[in-house]
Amino acid sequence: MDKAENYRYTLERLRLLIGGTDIIADMANTAAMLHQQMKFWWTGFYRVCGDRLVLGPFQGPVACTSIPFGKGVCGTAWKEARTIIVPDVDQFPGHIACSSASRSEIVVPIWQKGQIIAVLDIDSEKLDNFDHIDRDYLETVCSELSCSINPGLRDYIAENIIPRYEKFDKGHAVSHVTMVMERALKLACRYDVDPNMVYTAAAYHDLGVEEDRKTHNIISARMIREDGNLSKWFSPEQIDTIADAAEDHRASLGYEPRTIYGKITAEADRLIFPEMVVERCIQYGRAKHPELDKEQQWERVAAHLEDKYGRNGYLKVWLPESSNAANLEKLRDIIDDRKALRELYEKLYR
Ligand SMILES: [Fe+2]
Ligand SMILES: [Fe+2]
Repeated sequence: MDKAENYRYTLERLRLLIGGTDIIADMANTAAMLHQQMKFWWTGFYRVCGDRLVLGPFQGPVACTSIPFGKGVCGTAWKEARTIIVPDVDQFPGHIACSSASRSEIVVPIWQKGQIIAVLDIDSEKLDNFDHIDRDYLETVCSELSCSINPGLRDYIAENIIPRYEKFDKGHAVSHVTMVMERALKLACRYDVDPNMVYTAAAYHDLGVEEDRKTHNIISARMIREDGNLSKWFSPEQIDTIADAAEDHRASLGYEPRTIYGKITAEADRLIFPEMVVERCIQYGRAKHPELDKEQQWERVAAHLEDKYGRNGYLKVWLPESSNAANLEKLRDIIDDRKALRELYEKLYR
């Protein structure tokens, strides 16, 4: 089992354990499960208490009891409100050494209703032990811990809704909807929203592909309104908001999603990775305009990227907290630098 598979397995077991009634109990089980399954050296939580982080449930040797705001890796992750990966703790300025055996570290802030309420801190006795895979999965673990979903709703969606994606094309398959649900929940923790509504909008957002791909978002919204089971967990007004959010997920249609729920669903649904955007643009041009030579393709790609993703482009990111906003900024830097864009084009064209 590779690292990603191990995380996926751990995450599935964790979902059965996290109850949502008491976050300390959930933190305790999360620390134990992650620690055992992922074989970390130290795995634990620090909770925000006033101007300090205070030691919470953990597995591993004894640790520092309290960490001031902005101090050490944990205090810095809290202050800067972002996940921090430290490949070599000896190189981190102001590192708080609870043990000399710790060589590398990752700290993930835990958000709830737009506030950081704790951090997850993991240490390894190996140098450079953490990468983007750890970050992605651990951020998912943290969002599911702080924005827990009603177990009845979770089971209903897992058994009745997700399997319907099995027969869809790759772009709308089970792996896609699962990714959108995880990304939506991560964003949900950043705002004062109902995570169950976010989760449901994400779970149903592409279901309309069953009937018609072109208008699938409108059909998905209708399916939500027609699903009587949802009234077990939601009021009629909430169901309307969830349906509108699913309908608004196609941000590419150009209008602004009507509510925060729609904005979260739309941002969770799209991935703006600079290289992937450029690669797709090249692939599209070569498939649709095979008559163009390499130089003409380059002109088409450069013009399209400027038009859509450039600083005055028509593409809008609805939430500044989304990873899409940060990635769009990176893409714009490349578009602004013609030489860098051309180099990327040359690399991807081959
Ligand atoms: Fe869609
Ligand atoms: Fe989608």
